[in-house]
Amino acid sequence: ESESCSSGSLSSLSVDTQSLQRQIEELSSFSDSPAPSVTRILYSKKDVLARSYVKKLMQLAGLSIREDVVGNIFGKWEGFNSELAGVATGSHVDAIPYSGKYDGVVGVLGAIEAINVLRRSDFRPERSLEIIFFTSEEPTRFGISCLGSRLLAGSEPLVSALKNTVDSHDISFFEAARSAGYAQDQDDLTSVFLKKGFYSAFVELHIEQGPILEQEGISIGVVTAIAAPASIKVDFEGNGGHAGAVLMPQRNDAGLAAAELALAVEQHVLESGSIDTVGTVGILDLHPGAINSIPSKSHLEIDTRDIDETRRNNVIEKIHQSAVKITKNRKVQLSEFKIVNQDPPAASDESIIKAMEDASKELNLTHKLMISRAYHDSLFMARVSPMGMIFIPCYKGYSHKPEEFASIEDIANGVKVLALTLAKLSLG
Ligand code: GLV
Ligand code: MN
Ligand code: MN
Ligand code: MN
Repeated sequence: ESESCSSGSLSSLSVDTQSLQRQIEELSSFSDSPAPSVTRILYSKKDVLARSYVKKLMQLAGLSIREDVVGNIFGKWEGFNSELAGVATGSHVDAIPYSGKYDGVVGVLGAIEAINVLRRSDFRPERSLEIIFFTSEEPTRFGISCLGSRLLAGSEPLVSALKNTVDSHDISFFEAARSAGYAQDQDDLTSVFLKKGFYSAFVELHIEQGPILEQEGISIGVVTAIAAPASIKVDFEGNGGHAGAVLMPQRNDAGLAAAELALAVEQHVLESGSIDTVGTVGILDLHPGAINSIPSKSHLEIDTRDIDETRRNNVIEKIHQSAVKITKNRKVQLSEFKIVNQDPPAASDESIIKAMEDASKELNLTHKLMISRAYHDSLFMARVSPMGMIFIPCYKGYSHKPEEFASIEDIANGVKVLALTLAKLSLG
């Protein structure tokens, strides 16, 4: 038996950039929208193909694979001291409509390559190293963000909610999961829960999705905290009617109520007094959706976030007050105002921050501490494990659009920092 090498001898790690680039391209071909955009929705045929592809790469990396009932996939490299809690890494490969190839993907394919890098260096982990492919980080299909990691973190409210959750085509969560080969003979989602301490550390590699690293010419972002996200669904109802025949004083237009609320969201966000408060109305549907019919129903989905939870909650409260006021002024009904999630922020673990910083220094890569304004599965893994995140630069900070891009050199730097960080965390 060879001795495990210390992580100190791992400073010349070599990443197989050609293979990694090819894998990123191949994964991006499993998409329901034309290249260069990527659309990969939870439990769709393309999602299932992406899952098989990633499992194949995990197998080639010598990992043993396990899947839970919602399709979180775990690829494990057994440590030589496997009684110790393992160290995990991973991300997601689901992609919102018309997005890019790198969001999440870099943290899944990059993690597999990080394992390959460590194997090539003859490293042997003391704690087991495990890659997690998270189910549905994006809220696209069921309106629930970080579905897989939220469950891993033991969310009882989500277990109840999923019993009655359907997508926009009225397909239930369980029907969709079964169609992808999951939840076959059991629908007890509490089996997904991880015990706190199951992992001694969780680290996620991700593109920054913001412009700072590129602008400042820095290779690595060491994430100290993740901002607090929230999402709200709103429905207004009015009488609708003929666009020619109903005179203006007689109308109660649900579409205009939605338009007014959308502007109110912007106003409340701007009033917060901090540049860190953001709000977006990314979904706005009008019913019946005919040019010559006054909207009788409108549906909005509102995303609002802040690094300060109280300030974010104040914005939510004001949005609610505005919605109520609009119903009075416009004589429409507020048939739904549902806060889908109102998550607290998460802080990275100090010792993982140190491991990521040390790894960057040993690899002669510049780094800076930063916060994540986007949310990630790490937000939820932080509830059951010490957490850390590694960011790499991306072109102009573009994300959630087809122009998203990260260079293979930057990705390789991230993979090296991830590999070395995992190595450090896996010893002792
Ligand atoms: C998830 O992708 C987010 O919106 O941050
Ligand atoms: Mn995303
Ligand atoms: Mn992501
Ligand atoms: Mn995200």
